Amino acid sequence: MGYALKETKYRYRAWTKDGVWQEGELTEDKYIKIHEGSNVFHYGQAIFEGLKAYKHKDGKVYLFRPDLNYKRINNGLERIVAPQMDAEIFYEGIEEVVRANVDDIPEYGKQQSLYIRPFVIGQGMNLGVKPSKEYLYSVFCAPVGTYFKGGLSALDFITTKYDRAASRGMGQVKFAGNYGASLYPRKLAKDKGYAGVIYLDPQTHTKIDEVGAANFFGITHDNVLVTPKSPTILSSITKRSILYLAEHRLGMKVEERECFIDNIDEFKEAGACGTAAVITPIKSITHNGEKHQFGDGKVGPTVKKLYDLLVGIYYGDIESPEGWLKEVKL
Ligand SMILES: Cc1ncc(COP(=O)(O)O)c(C=O)c1O
Repeated sequence: MGYALKETKYRYRAWTKDGVWQEGELTEDKYIKIHEGSNVFHYGQAIFEGLKAYKHKDGKVYLFRPDLNYKRINNGLERIVAPQMDAEIFYEGIEEVVRANVDDIPEYGKQQSLYIRPFVIGQGMNLGVKPSKEYLYSVFCAPVGTYFKGGLSALDFITTKYDRAASRGMGQVKFAGNYGASLYPRKLAKDKGYAGVIYLDPQTHTKIDEVGAANFFGITHDNVLVTPKSPTILSSITKRSILYLAEHRLGMKVEERECFIDNIDEFKEAGACGTAAVITPIKSITHNGEKHQFGDGKVGPTVKKLYDLLVGIYYGDIESPEGWLKEVKL
């Protein structure tokens, strides 16, 4: 089951009718019966999201910035030529699934959470390469612990000669095909004992784009938090949160700009950030056979501070910036 600790009982399904989203419902059936000619099987017409629900000390359950997932799924739907989704259906699917699987939301204090996976697929008989007529929106969830093994420890990564997205392709959206493309480079890195891959920009292969399914950030020697500005990366909600927290809570200077792999020495600390990765410290990056280690190879002080802040906000131990947490009424 990988990252998931167990399967949960209920999932949500909503279908379109004549291109319009209809109200959905919960089901216990984890199998989806759709036509063999569905676009999702042949032309990859699929988009997904990932967010988490956290239980706070008082037993209340909160989603972290789901409004940004909502915007991002609609950007993705536009790009795969699927109908836009109303906020009511998007949130209904998520909240119903959280409520229905309440017994599987990990307790406060375990450093676990409920990972929620909304997705949309093009379905129905469709042999020609054209958008589907009908779509399914589904949401399922699973309790999860840490994504990278070893909790908060610094990990080794390696650059890859492969790209996860084309230079004018779909890197900006959570398009299923980007992840299919990432499996082979990931396998090569894992086979060599690395935690994952660093993708370089597909256009020139000189700049850091992403860390597998997470964004990259580095801390310069004069304490500036830098994260890549690139048209081919998925704009991480975690990254946007870290930029804000570094600036407004830690008083740091922050920059979104190009991060040249040949200038990796400019960083004394580095990390990967994402809903699944949370903040994963990067111990080293190997590029063209040369290993660059950040600092002494241990978790750096700024990365640790950012981790504590972010995780404190997730679990309600540190005051959240206005509007970041959305309660799911149980
Ligand atoms: C390619 C990619 N980059 C970055 C991220 C991190 O984004 P977020 O912080 O919104 O989860 C993800 C995960 O969603 C991803 O799939």
